[in-house]
Amino acid sequence: TPLRLVTLVGSLRQASYNRMVANTLPELAPAGVGINTLPALHDIPLYDGDVEAKGIPPAVTALAEAIRTADGLIIVTPEYNYSVPGVLKNAIDWLSRVPNQPFAGKPVLLQSASMGPFGGARAQYHLRQVLIYLNPRVFNVPEVMVGGVQNKVDAAAGKLNDASTRDHIAGQLARFADFIRAGA
Ligand code: FNR
Repeated sequence: TPLRLVTLVGSLRQASYNRMVANTLPELAPAGVGINTLPALHDIPLYDGDVEAKGIPPAVTALAEAIRTADGLIIVTPEYNYSVPGVLKNAIDWLSRVPNQPFAGKPVLLQSASMGPFGGARAQYHLRQVLIYLNPRVFNVPEVMVGGVQNKVDAAAGKLNDASTRDHIAGQLARFADFIRAGA
């Protein structure tokens, strides 16, 4: 069966390397797997219980619905100070407050990119901890942590162009599709 995946990017900036990775995923996906990048997180307000008391903001509801209706979620994120960017953590905090939990049982794939040598690995491991209580099915291996990403993209095209990185990601996406289809 065809699968429909959505990608959430943990960086807001236009020229984000992580967004370039996200934008490359559709062409690296196996046959029968469609991948769409979700809108950037600019419209998600800072979590505030007083705002929540007046109703979940529409941008949060829309994000929750996009995740809930997808067959799987891919999170592509930078690492900020050895951890998850606040923007992404904030979105997850909001999503954790939505009824009919979008993360429950959801297959989730993590990727990260960084100009440094570790490719955002530390952010990914923090992200795994953040997701535990939401109980998604987080894919384990192979991992994708793109170090030195500035040397692996065609910035004008906004895509990854490093052949071995592309092959590695294509392999991971194929395994993730198998993982989704295998079920819980
Ligand atoms: C960074 N950066 C960074 N890189 C890294 O490998 N480990 C880290 O802990 C940090 N910390 C960090 C904190 C803050 C506040 C910023 C702004 C940046 C560098 C980061 O990887 C680099 O800016 C990436 O280009 C950010 O990802 P996008 O926006 O290109 O997707």
